[in-house]
Amino acid sequence: MGEWDGRTVLITGAGRGIGRAEALYLAAVGANVVVNDPGVAVDGSGGDRGVAEAVVAEIRAAGGAAIADAGSVADWDGARGMVERAVAAFGDLHAVINNAAVEVNRAVDRLTEAEFDDVVAVKLKGTFAVSHWAAVHWRERHVAGARVDRAILNTASGSGLLNPLPGQSNYAAANAGVAAMTIVHALELSRFGVRVNCVSPSMVRTRLTAAVPGMDRPAADFGPDPRDPMVVAPLAAYLVGAGCPLTGQVLSVRGGGIAVDNGWSRGAELHTDGVLWTESELAAGLSTLDLPDPFATLADALGGALGASGRAELETMIAAGLDD
Ligand SMILES: NC(=O)c1ccc[n+]([C@@H]2O[C@H](COP(=O)([O-])OP(=O)(O)OC[C@H]3O[C@@H](n4cnc5c(N)ncnc54)[C@H](O)[C@@H]3O)[C@@H](O)[C@H]2O)c1
Repeated sequence: MGEWDGRTVLITGAGRGIGRAEALYLAAVGANVVVNDPGVAVDGSGGDRGVAEAVVAEIRAAGGAAIADAGSVADWDGARGMVERAVAAFGDLHAVINNAAVEVNRAVDRLTEAEFDDVVAVKLKGTFAVSHWAAVHWRERHVAGARVDRAILNTASGSGLLNPLPGQSNYAAANAGVAAMTIVHALELSRFGVRVNCVSPSMVRTRLTAAVPGMDRPAADFGPDPRDPMVVAPLAAYLVGAGCPLTGQVLSVRGGGIAVDNGWSRGAELHTDGVLWTESELAAGLSTLDLPDPFATLADALGGALGASGRAELETMIAAGLDD
């Protein structure tokens, strides 16, 4: 009996990319998989039920167990429906992988209210909505006496955690929110035996990264392609498997590398005792502290150091990407 045999896993956005790879991997190791995906375009428009159904057909052809769900995670009733469908089809729900996302990248001065809301609705509210309805089901089972390992695996991004990218007010903020919510839910849901973790993939070849320079380059080394969506699947499967002890962790995955993301942490400090700071004291005090430079962080994420003229070059590059 494997760690996934007979466990039912609901994966959102599992019709393409990383979610699809997770669905194929988990079905291959014995899990029942609910493949959720409304089959929308990158910006969330349109829809195609065939996207989720194609993954289900692939799983069944290989001898696995899966059902399709074309609901939207951003829709409260849609999120409830996918949890209920999982339980109705397989008798219980053991894990949720919140993976769905859409992107609309635009400068803060151009991004519309709807474009902000739509991206946050899928990534942040969608993660909450599916986790909420799963938690409702798990509370009922727990009160009824069931003691089973349950898990939520959220999906964040370096744009939000390590190097928020220009043009991604909506996406970066939503991903940072997902990481914070992971900790909140890990602390809350342990009372029902639910572990909650988060993966943060990086440089995986999907339609979201199609425009990133170098993504289409073949793998340099012999071995598994480090940009294939399948690189995330073993870690995702481990984190939702019955034998995994981890909870409250945010782990970055890039190729074969896995890193613990420590999140915001307290840096250098200043103190005043018994009196309010004056502005001149603040200016003097803060100037002595080692402060992070967001431009240097971005340059580092792009693979180069910020040289003497680097800041100006980077500002020109950012403007070129954001302005018409
Ligand atoms: N590709 C990368 O390198 C990378 C990097 C960082 C984070 N991520 C994260 O990984 C996850 C998967 O991304 P991907 O690269 O595979 O993208 P993708 O576009 O290939 O797959 C995302 C899927 O989510 C689905 N989806 C969109 N809106 C939905 C909704 N309302 N309800 C349910 N499903 C919905 C889409 O139809 C799509 O099939 C996302 O959460 C993304 O933020 C990816």
